[in-house]
Amino acid sequence: VLQLTLAVIKPDAVAHPLMLEALHQRILDNSFVIVRCKDLVWRRQDSERFYAEHSGRFFYQRLVEFMSSGPMRAYVLAREDAIRHWRDLMGPTKVFRARHTSPASIRAQFGLTDTRNTTHGSDSVESAEREIRFFFPEFYVEDWMKKE
Ligand code: CMP
Repeated sequence: VLQLTLAVIKPDAVAHPLMLEALHQRILDNSFVIVRCKDLVWRRQDSERFYAEHSGRFFYQRLVEFMSSGPMRAYVLAREDAIRHWRDLMGPTKVFRARHTSPASIRAQFGLTDTRNTTHGSDSVESAEREIRFFFPEFYVEDWMKKE
């Protein structure tokens, strides 16, 4: 079934031009259609709002700080089963685990730490809708789906 997902290249990866290029190419090589793409910088409060569900976790402060530390690139990606395919491509959140279980994954190859793990991807249909709205408030998922 055709799906949309939100993918983000985080500040650690955008800061490195070759990494940014490699990640963009990975998207193209894996049959995703780039529906929307933009570069943006979060203020601290954007970061806090997006990751509100993690407030109270030990890594929340460093996560919030990191995600508002510089430019990132957000995509709306389409393909069948887009959510799962993008998550498989990223690999596990934790870099150590990624390197052990999925050495070809993005986080295994480019991730620096559990926080600076290069990419984000929605984990469900509901979070994809919420996250696409968060990054692309002018984009209407339902209208796009109807046109396809
Ligand atoms: P992301 O997929 O964007 O969702 C939550 C983020 O929290 C995660 O990627 C990491 O960047 C960050 N994070 C930092 N430390 C941890 C941790 N120990 N476990 C899970 N997520 C972490």
